[in-house]
Amino acid sequence: MCGIVGYIGSREVTPLLLSGLKKLEYRGYDSAGIAVIENKRVSIVKTAGKLLNLERKLEEYSPTGHVGIGHTRWATHGRPSNVNSHPHNGCSNDFAVVHNGIIENYLELKEWLVDKKGHDFASETDTEVIAHLVEEFYDGDLVQAVRETLKMVQGSYAVGIISLKEPDILIAARKDSPLVIGLGKGENFIASDIPAILNHTRDVYMVEDGEVVLLTKEKVVILDQDNKEVNRDVYHVDWDIEAAEKGGYEYFMLKEICEQPEAFKKTLSGRIQQGKVKLDELNFTREQIKQWEKVFIVACGTAYHSGLIGKPLIEEYLGIPVEVDIASEFRYRNPLVNNKTLAVFISQSGETADTLAALREAKRKGATTLAITNVVGSSISRVADYTFYLWAGPEIAVASTKAYTTMLIAQYLLCVYMAQVKGVMPEEKGREILTALQELPEKAKKILDQKELYLDIAKSIKEARSLFFIGRGYDYNIAQEGALKLKEISYIHAEAYAAGELKHGTLALITEKSPVIAVATQKSTYEKTLSNIKEVTARDAFVIGVAEEGDQEILKWVNKAIYIPKIENTVSPVLAVIPLQLLAYYTAVVRGCNVDQPRNLAKSVTVE
Ligand code: F6R
Repeated sequence: MCGIVGYIGSREVTPLLLSGLKKLEYRGYDSAGIAVIENKRVSIVKTAGKLLNLERKLEEYSPTGHVGIGHTRWATHGRPSNVNSHPHNGCSNDFAVVHNGIIENYLELKEWLVDKKGHDFASETDTEVIAHLVEEFYDGDLVQAVRETLKMVQGSYAVGIISLKEPDILIAARKDSPLVIGLGKGENFIASDIPAILNHTRDVYMVEDGEVVLLTKEKVVILDQDNKEVNRDVYHVDWDIEAAEKGGYEYFMLKEICEQPEAFKKTLSGRIQQGKVKLDELNFTREQIKQWEKVFIVACGTAYHSGLIGKPLIEEYLGIPVEVDIASEFRYRNPLVNNKTLAVFISQSGETADTLAALREAKRKGATTLAITNVVGSSISRVADYTFYLWAGPEIAVASTKAYTTMLIAQYLLCVYMAQVKGVMPEEKGREILTALQELPEKAKKILDQKELYLDIAKSIKEARSLFFIGRGYDYNIAQEGALKLKEISYIHAEAYAAGELKHGTLALITEKSPVIAVATQKSTYEKTLSNIKEVTARDAFVIGVAEEGDQEILKWVNKAIYIPKIENTVSPVLAVIPLQLLAYYTAVVRGCNVDQPRNLAKSVTVE
């Protein structure tokens, strides 16, 4: 995830920016840069790659000054490259901008700036429009120019802006992206995250959405949307650096589980407009979609589990048969792939060796290939014909959580998009699914607000030697993901079964107190799943049911019930899997496991 740091004061700014950026490295990034107000210019030094590359560049030329901004970039719009790195400037080099977030209408704004105002752009980024807009609107008042700019942009942002025109101020602003102001003596700071400034101050202001902040070395003025000064309480940070990196969470996994509402917003950002899915990165034509007689979804592990949900979706709404393959199996079975195939490769890291090899194989056989990945510029995104980015932010814990749920969202969007372009989705259904997708962040938050509940449930299963997850349809698909999550981090053996399959063998394993997690959120299969729950209850199993809010019936048949908020049923797997993630997490915690780095596992599997 991108990181911002900025400084105004009397100390030499370059080393301060660099040390601040180092404290943000844990967030993941692919390029970095700084901008400093020197005597007669704004000097920008930036480069793709790690901070080491930036340090090497700074050995050639290190700007000197007392006002500056720095940035680590996690690419979203435009691959990681020197020119796409932040800070960005306008045409005149008098302004420099760093930005976290996504400007949804940047293409429109860029067109206006180029065609109507004669601006030249250097990068492929959305951020560069901010620099050009500030330059365009500047008329002797930087705060005003920033205000005018922010009125034009749609999307999310935390920004830091400096200008040669007003060299003694630093401007910051935010909407839907974190930003803090660090308060020093004769110096002040901005940062996207507290660790960047914790070595210098523990007193901060939290900036709220819509606010613009004016910093000089002596003062900080927070202005609300009506340009009125706001009185903000000083927040004193009493955590240490390590806790701060994890945002106060004990493990990155929990942080990432809790980041899901934000991640959902980012994945959806700008992709639903007036009841339609808009995916500029794909721009498939009706003819193209019509020619696909078959879809393959290929991936590994958790990403593969997400594809299991993509299959029934695409089959139902597009009427095209779908095969879901484990990437390490795909290549070795000579799959029937040809130029009438759309092959979708899903990978958080975009580097998984088996998925990459499968992608190359599908390409060789003539398929149109589409990558769904979280990492911009990753190998898989470079090889595929098309790429859909998740924009979920970096995932650091080995166990994948927010990548899984955003992979699901990506497939809902992809499915509705293709069905709308092909003209086969009833308008009403499309609207229902898209509305439900937009409700996800709020409803996911409701589940997360009660996360402590899962600690108790975890205690009741922590001694189990083996666990069973059951469900039907989508509920079965998330049961598979729930079982993987539990076993990989808690080391308890867990297996998922299609609930209807139990009596064909596995029921023999169910005895008194066998823990069974039964997922029953899908209306179409509810009664049948309930019968399966009764089968295990009759054998005195210890049953934890996952159901929709308001379901009283299930209470009669389970030992504990977990409820998820009501939502359109196609989309409900995104919510229903969150309790399973939390259950796995707390079970691992109460068993004393190293949650973020489970034994024998790596985050990115680059061997076949
Ligand atoms: C499980 C997990 C793995 C990955 C798998 C694929 O929590 O994270 O199963 O899903 O290794 O990784 P990506 O998505 O990077 O291709």
